[in-house]
Amino acid sequence: MEQTVTRPKRLRGTIRVPGHKSISHRAALLGALAGGTSRARGFLTSNDCLATLQCLRALGVEWSLTDEQAGSTTLEIHGVGLRGLREPDDVLDCQNSGTTMRIIAGILAGQPFLSILTGDASLRSRPMDRVIEPLRQMGAELSARANDRLPPMTIRGGNLRGIRYRQRVASAQVKSAVLLAGLYAEGKTVVEEPGPSRDHTERMLRAMGVDVRREGPAISVQPVDALSPIDINVPGDVSSAAFWLVAAAAHPDADLLLVGVGINPTRTGMIDALRKMGANIDVLEERSVGEEPVADLRVRSAGLTGVEVGDELVLRMMDELPVFAIAACAAQGRTVVRDAEELRVKESDRIATLVPQLRALGVEIEERPDGFVIEGGKSMHGASVTGSGDHRMTMALAVAGLLADGETRVQDGNAVGVSYPAFWRDLEEIADPRTGS
Ligand code: S3P
Repeated sequence: MEQTVTRPKRLRGTIRVPGHKSISHRAALLGALAGGTSRARGFLTSNDCLATLQCLRALGVEWSLTDEQAGSTTLEIHGVGLRGLREPDDVLDCQNSGTTMRIIAGILAGQPFLSILTGDASLRSRPMDRVIEPLRQMGAELSARANDRLPPMTIRGGNLRGIRYRQRVASAQVKSAVLLAGLYAEGKTVVEEPGPSRDHTERMLRAMGVDVRREGPAISVQPVDALSPIDINVPGDVSSAAFWLVAAAAHPDADLLLVGVGINPTRTGMIDALRKMGANIDVLEERSVGEEPVADLRVRSAGLTGVEVGDELVLRMMDELPVFAIAACAAQGRTVVRDAEELRVKESDRIATLVPQLRALGVEIEERPDGFVIEGGKSMHGASVTGSGDHRMTMALAVAGLLADGETRVQDGNAVGVSYPAFWRDLEEIADPRTGS
């Protein structure tokens, strides 16, 4: 589906961004293992999270989704206990979702049966050796295509032993997989991370009664007999909020309120980076929703200036870098993104996808192995662009369309369904239809 985007005269309104993708996946996966029924209100019913739920159903877990009020869905999941999953009688299809495949691998490594995992063409090109290696060290048998690197992947779980695992790349999915396998292992399991990746798994496990400890970069768990069910409200996803933060910060006449956004400090790199550029973002009504901090974000037009981002800041905004690139296009001067080689193994190679699309819009961008350099502040002109089926690239290009002269035709508009099914509707709602000058 092609979507045409033009620059509106103004951006105004209030958006309740959709439920948090990472937290929704975890609510489903951990709820499935609990001893009883768990509930997650505001569960994200996007394709990625539905893929997780379908895998769980194939493993013998029952769940239902109910629309309690417009736009908000509640997941009710009947946990089968840590040892109650059953061998699936077919291949598990994780579709486009790396989170599903990698985190579920940690659970399956502890099950006494065979599982085979696959996904769409994008997922089948993403590295799985990063989960295979530690889970093998723990005693599970895993193998995969292309020298044990790419899906499909098979897992024969078994008796696991705790390990101390030092990650080469900071990855919350791999950390989660190893910690979940650790619940089934003999002895203590420790994961050392080279940088602070998102900690939603640790927070949720604690809420379910697991003693998760952190000492500096090391996170540890001991085996447990049971997880307590949870009843949670899922915060809004800061990754989805990021599109509107950039659109409003960079548009000349904008004032948006984003309600109920998760502001877990491992996830707020984008807010910090935009502020560094000069963005006008107010963090209002800070509160806790269960284990997670939440706030409303008000963002208004501001003159942006180019910045350099790398190291830990980039780690805390990795998923937001596609749309951060659009902020860089609007900012005066040069923006440098470094230490972001992980972008190359996301739903697409996000550096390689970005560069030709931004050039088509008239942007001066240089590709680097670990990021990109953008000379910003020149006007963009509409063109036909494609995010190559990658949801975050598609939405980032739509935001570029809100800032560019003329018409931007975004191909593959359906890709948004992976994380933000209502994206186009929300865009229409905040964009004043009169085209701006
Ligand atoms: C996620 C972790 C991140 C992120 C992905 C979601 C998660 O990947 O890019 O969209 O929910 O754990 P890494 O495992 O590479 O950190």
